[in-house]
Amino acid sequence: MKKKLLKINNLSVKVAGKQLLKQINLQIKPGEVHALMGPNGSGKSSLALSLAGHPDYQVVMSQSTTPVVTLDGQDLLNLSPDKRAGLGLFLAFQQPAEVPGVRINQFLRQAHQTLFADKSRKKYASAYQFYKYLDQVAEEIGVNRSLLGRNLNEGFSGGEKKQLEMLQLVVLEPKYAILDETDSGLDVDALKIVAKAVKLVQSKSKTGVLIITHYLRILEHIKPEFVHVLVDGQIKDSGGYELAKKLEKTGYKSKLSGG
Ligand SMILES: Nc1ncnc2c1ncn2[C@@H]1O[C@H](COP(=O)(O)OP(=O)(O)O)[C@@H](O)[C@H]1O
Ligand SMILES: [Mg+2]
Repeated sequence: MKKKLLKINNLSVKVAGKQLLKQINLQIKPGEVHALMGPNGSGKSSLALSLAGHPDYQVVMSQSTTPVVTLDGQDLLNLSPDKRAGLGLFLAFQQPAEVPGVRINQFLRQAHQTLFADKSRKKYASAYQFYKYLDQVAEEIGVNRSLLGRNLNEGFSGGEKKQLEMLQLVVLEPKYAILDETDSGLDVDALKIVAKAVKLVQSKSKTGVLIITHYLRILEHIKPEFVHVLVDGQIKDSGGYELAKKLEKTGYKSKLSGG
């Protein structure tokens, strides 16, 4: 049996010749919630983009034959971004794209059908059934249902885009989800939606979640079991939720000089 986990093993990444990430090690098991914290420019988004397969982010290959990133035992790095998504990796970014002319509910149904070719046919045979399910999820996590018939992210506020991303997260039931700065610029109500969505996928879909943030605010709602601190491209510390609380008091400075 292959071990179920998202495993990052000595990941080093370069962009345009500059090393942004240095030997990152991280393991996320199904149903676990991890937070990755760190100051601006420490490499948090670079980690998310590298895992997504962004072509600018060059993974430095070591001599070792051990794969650098595996998802439930599958080597991730030799797969295209869409194949990674097909395996169950979900990424939510700081700036979600606008797709004019594509309605959210149609888009989600399409995405859901593609991902669950067999299951979705059984579960939600008709568009009506799927939209009913979508309404139910929106209600459950507190997303404004009037958004659902609109075009994807077109003319949406930052907070509304995030609401829809959280809806996608719950509906697509990924194995692992990486949420990059999902909380920046969000009001308290939107933060609560993010927290509800994370807790829902954790319990319902056993999704392993990596929340990337430099604020404690969102973590107060989610209380992750695992916290990692990224400074200057390196993980300098790992611990439980108490580490996040400590950082709130001391800031990242104590981590800057090797500590
Ligand atoms: N595509 C890129 N080209 C050049 N430099 C980049 C690129 N992406 C990130 N960087 C640089 O890498 C460092 C880390 O950036 P980033 O991963 O966005 O940090 P964070 O998300 O922690 O704020 C920064 O110095 C940033 O300017
Ligand atoms: Mg960032």
